[in-house]
Amino acid sequence: MADFGYDVADYCDIDPMFGTLADFDRLLAAAHARGLKLLLDFVPNHSSDRHRWFTESRSSRDNPKRDWYIWRDAAADGGPPNNWISDFGGSAWEYDPATGQYYYHAFLKEQPDLNWRNPDLRAAMIDVLQFWLDRGVDGFRIDVLWHILKAADFPDNPLNPAYRPAMGEMHSVMQLHSTDQPEVHEIVAEMRDLADSYGRGGERVLIGEICLPLDKLVRYYGVGAPGVHLPFNFHLIDAPWQARALATFIDAYEAALPPGGWPNWVLGSHDARRVAARLGEAQARVAAMLLLTLRGTPTLYQGDEIGIGEVAIPAGQLVDPRELREPGLGLGRDPSRTPMAWDRSDNGGFTTGVPWLPLHSDWRQRNVAAEQGDPQSLVNFYHRLLTMRRASEALSIGQYVAVEAVGDILAYERRHDDERLLIILNLGDREQALPAQVHGATPLLCTLTARGDGRSMRPNEGAIFALPSDRGH
Ligand code: NOJ
Repeated sequence: MADFGYDVADYCDIDPMFGTLADFDRLLAAAHARGLKLLLDFVPNHSSDRHRWFTESRSSRDNPKRDWYIWRDAAADGGPPNNWISDFGGSAWEYDPATGQYYYHAFLKEQPDLNWRNPDLRAAMIDVLQFWLDRGVDGFRIDVLWHILKAADFPDNPLNPAYRPAMGEMHSVMQLHSTDQPEVHEIVAEMRDLADSYGRGGERVLIGEICLPLDKLVRYYGVGAPGVHLPFNFHLIDAPWQARALATFIDAYEAALPPGGWPNWVLGSHDARRVAARLGEAQARVAAMLLLTLRGTPTLYQGDEIGIGEVAIPAGQLVDPRELREPGLGLGRDPSRTPMAWDRSDNGGFTTGVPWLPLHSDWRQRNVAAEQGDPQSLVNFYHRLLTMRRASEALSIGQYVAVEAVGDILAYERRHDDERLLIILNLGDREQALPAQVHGATPLLCTLTARGDGRSMRPNEGAIFALPSDRGH
């Protein structure tokens, strides 16, 4: 738990803190009985330093598992082998006096990187996927997939000329040689082959966590052979909340997808600031409408559907190593990892124990039970959006057609056969003109509750309109 589960000590078991394999099987069966799919987070880049593979690897230079991790001699001056920086700050190399070499860790020193160039390690990790697929999981979210291969000769990374300390030390160099090596696609294809062997047509899904610019990101759909089904597209989290910029990105993304590549959009995650904190509560509704009306699989992060905003974590309660290692830069992830509030009971009904982080301050009002009872709440708005999306082929599988991006207005159509929907989003807090096409029309769904004047988009308004079919004209 040095990085809260991203440091795995046994890939084929459940940590006793969370139960047993039998509990897992019950969870999976219960999810399936409700028509839910269950994915696991597969962490292939690094294990825990408590994994027995690493204990063996560090025991001597000629241990058979030595090469399952990345060991290098010191540089001529005795320092780390190169200038690679951990994503959590500081050198990514840790000196191990027992055998007189450094090992590489892209994250904490408690998370040594595995050596995917070693065929035995690679086979052992593919076996891990098979273990869980055989147990019936529906797929994996694959942690930092673009990290798993590094340049074979470990050259220094180029310095980043745009670096400022406030960005976090990891950005002092560009991760040119430490990530995204061309040979990674062959490994991804092997993972995909395995997933496909459990049923054609994507019964088991692979979602890759990949933080790269568009041109590099889409390569994870596959180079030469199929890659992951969904390389996570995190750009809604980073993009400026500005109509023209978003429209340009959506178009570029749609255009960059390979043939048959299915898009996806991520609005929040356990690593990012909460959407309501980033954009404010009123725009969080507009963002929900954007997420659930764009073409592609949406990823909605737990807690965002009740609008949890900024949570101030008192200094003594901070737990995220990202914050503790580079304090005060606002890089910590604790604020987006606070417990879900289910109801008004103690700890929001999340636990009868002591929660690992405090709840948001307004949890007695902002919880699932309270919001379910309020027709205008965010959670009920999400339900309406999801219901509409399920019922509408235009939304779930239809084409995306850009319409306009003027001022704060972002507008697009979704079309399938005769169904045409126009989505208009006001990304700002000022009134904007409503496109003439829908003057006087009543939207199918709107982020605001009171009726508008039918000629303008009110501040923070998003609306979905049905358009007449243009077929047969
Ligand atoms: C990405 C995960 O999302 C993050 O939470 C974690 O700290 C790193 N990978 C390291 O596994």
